Amino acid sequence: MADLDPALATPTDLNRNDTKTAGDALNIALADCYALYLKTKNFHWHVSGPHFRDYHLMLDDQAAQILAVTDVIAERVRKTGNTTLRSIGDIARRAAIKDNDKDFVKPDDMLAELRDDNLKLVERLREAREAAEEAGDTATSSLADDWIDEAEERAWFLFETAREG
Ligand SMILES: [Fe+2]
Repeated sequence: MADLDPALATPTDLNRNDTKTAGDALNIALADCYALYLKTKNFHWHVSGPHFRDYHLMLDDQAAQILAVTDVIAERVRKTGNTTLRSIGDIARRAAIKDNDKDFVKPDDMLAELRDDNLKLVERLREAREAAEEAGDTATSSLADDWIDEAEERAWFLFETAREG
């Protein structure tokens, strides 16, 4: 993150160096949320086969859950004195979750890929939570517990849904 433009400073009692570290980690996790959101929607739109209805509906629920946390994460970054994402390019530069632009992906491969991506997001969220904790930003770290729980739940559903027999 570049030095904060003074015009965008927001009030906080927390140490600015510490919140900058936490803000950077949150912005990375936020970029991964957007990458995962769009991939989940992509698979919602393109899933096929005998489990179409189940998978299509589950992926829509998961996409909505992911999208709902993005605003909360971005606003935690602003409330703690930092700036957040500004563009699709900004997301692409920070996200670790890779695009899948293939024409056809088998339904089981979709579920496996999303499960791994959700677990990757859990790692990023834990890093952000840790940084927030070190900054004394307990509001972010306690919210992050819910974001982590939801991502673990998505990974669990994706795992069980893909299980044979
Ligand atoms: Fe839809």
